[in-house]
Amino acid sequence: VIPLGQHPHPLHTVAHVSDTHLLAGGRGLHGAATEEHLEAALRQLARLDPVPEAIVFTGDLADLGEIDAYERLRSIVDPAIERMGAIPVWVMGNHDERDAFARVLLGADGVSGAQHRAYEVGDLRIIALDSSVPGYHHGAIDADQLEWLAAELSTPAPHGTLLALHHPPIPSPLTPAMELLELHDQHLLEEVVRGTDVRAVLAGHLHYSTHSLFAGVPVSVAAATCYTMNLSRADRLLSGSDAHQAVDVVHVYADRVVHTVVPLGDPPELFSMTTAEAARIEAMTVGERIDAFSRKDSPSATPEG
Ligand SMILES: [Fe+2]
Ligand SMILES: [Fe+2]
Repeated sequence: VIPLGQHPHPLHTVAHVSDTHLLAGGRGLHGAATEEHLEAALRQLARLDPVPEAIVFTGDLADLGEIDAYERLRSIVDPAIERMGAIPVWVMGNHDERDAFARVLLGADGVSGAQHRAYEVGDLRIIALDSSVPGYHHGAIDADQLEWLAAELSTPAPHGTLLALHHPPIPSPLTPAMELLELHDQHLLEEVVRGTDVRAVLAGHLHYSTHSLFAGVPVSVAAATCYTMNLSRADRLLSGSDAHQAVDVVHVYADRVVHTVVPLGDPPELFSMTTAEAARIEAMTVGERIDAFSRKDSPSATPEG
């Protein structure tokens, strides 16, 4: 479909998936069918036009860091991304274990240090930072990694950079308990990021969608695919629920980045416009489109507007 409004097509389409929390043997987590949710997410992403060039997985990929959980993750993700022609960007979370993560997902021989790296998606750079702290659930970026990041960002990418890390460097006012497990010393990362070509920060960890600002850069937290937080339970500091799982789609334009939450599942349809109508609309002049779809007494005025 050609652009029907004022804005050109985006330069890049990137998917943002978080907190899959897979377990060895395909076990669910707290009763949530984590593998089925991930499969649904990938099926829905494969329907996008265009499909994503990259899928960024912002951590907590395996709930206990088991080798088998990462292998199961790859067996689900690999065929899907191959069909899409996308690249996976793997990011460490607090539930992940560096050695198993690196062996299975990055093909490394075994490691102990932070698992950060930069990916090129055409002219767009995606940086995966490792905010995990071995043995703990809170986050931190160590001095070596900050130094590496500063060096990497010293050369801007033509279309800018998306910075992906698990622990979001923002407050979480609806889940104060999660602030016990937040990214420590956020000012150190802020000093490195401010004024660079970083155009968006992608994060996870909270298990619900939220948006804020960090170092002058928009932050987008994707909800989890495993389970999400009920944010309106007055009698709970935290309440995980098997509902409202979602992924994000990130569209990178020359002058902005647009983040869109895509809930998992196909609920019953109430009304629709089919893609078959696109060719007819494309053939119309701007005036004909206003007359057909915007004029209130037009028979085909868009019902969802
Ligand atoms: Fe998580
Ligand atoms: Fe987490």
